[in-house]
Amino acid sequence: MNATILSNNEEHYPVLLNEILSIISPQNGGTFIDCTFGQGGYSESILKFPKTEVIALDRDIDCKKVAETLEKKNKNRFIFYNKKFSDIDEIDYKNSTIRGVIFDLGYSYTQIKDPKKGLSFESTGLLNMRMGINEFSASDVVNKLEQKDLELIFKFFGDEEKSKIISKKIILERAKGEIDTQKLVKIINSVKKKKKYKSIHNATKVFQALRIFVNKEISELIYGLIKTVKIIDKKGLILLISFHSLEDKIIKFFFKNLSEQKKISRYYPEPSKEKKVLKLGTKKPILPSKQEIRINKPSRSAKLRYAIKISNEKNFEKEFLKEFEKLLEIESLSKKL
Ligand SMILES: C[S@@+](CC[C@H](N)C(=O)[O-])C[C@H]1O[C@@H](n2cnc3c(N)ncnc32)[C@H](O)[C@@H]1O
Repeated sequence: MNATILSNNEEHYPVLLNEILSIISPQNGGTFIDCTFGQGGYSESILKFPKTEVIALDRDIDCKKVAETLEKKNKNRFIFYNKKFSDIDEIDYKNSTIRGVIFDLGYSYTQIKDPKKGLSFESTGLLNMRMGINEFSASDVVNKLEQKDLELIFKFFGDEEKSKIISKKIILERAKGEIDTQKLVKIINSVKKKKKYKSIHNATKVFQALRIFVNKEISELIYGLIKTVKIIDKKGLILLISFHSLEDKIIKFFFKNLSEQKKISRYYPEPSKEKKVLKLGTKKPILPSKQEIRINKPSRSAKLRYAIKISNEKNFEKEFLKEFEKLLEIESLSKKL
């Protein structure tokens, strides 16, 4: 497993890199879109193959420095856009045939270690959690939304079983003053008793929920998938690495739905079936090896799913959007901010 050396000399291990490379086979050349550039682990590895081109996106402008280095090293073969992947259809890919689109979801180690981003429950200071190109911060959410809205966010985006009491406590505490990261951790700790052998931090679920809400991760993924299927040609690959069950549920549903043959109407005779749009790479997700997990612990929750486009899509969005209507509705509570 190859590590990328970061500017602060720390090593960065792109998750499931060997598996990604063996699926996309960059030795055959072609144009790839790296939707979550981060520290450039995938882009850099793909560009090592001479006949490749990479278009990279990341919503975090802090990635630009690494991207500029790659741009200099790979003139005319690499371009970076500071964009969200839900806007993938806005990029100019100069009519190249896209051979593969890769999403490595979530946030990077560099982002979680950045105290300004306030993604970690170890951060001090204001609640933030914005990865880039956002409309509001976690501080706005925690200090402004009503109790019932907070409860929905913690329950549905974090699967937090104590969402009601935590939200109630937040409302009581914020009457005394603004809630920052450490105050929020304190509130959660006061509600959730510490278990002796608990493997995850008490605040993990609430922090995950806030990060998903602040960065609109549900609609990002949903529209990222819908638009990717539209822009790629037949034989194009879509690969996604997810890190939590909510993301994986969305990807799984999308892949399953588009890889099944459906009757257009029960009144039609047998041959009137909609074509399958995708063919699944594997039925089950690909997981990191024990060796990878040993070297790079955060990879332990990674799941890679991929599919290949086999025909042009019909109107597939409706069913997909309907399935995740409730989550999208919760996400739109942000309109109150
Ligand atoms: C896990 S890291 C990617 C690491 C990368 N594969 C590497 O090897 O360095 C995820 C990256 O995706 C970016 N990101 C998350 N959601 C995004 C979105 N909706 N649009 C664009 N970038 C996004 C984050 O800013 C972060 O840099």
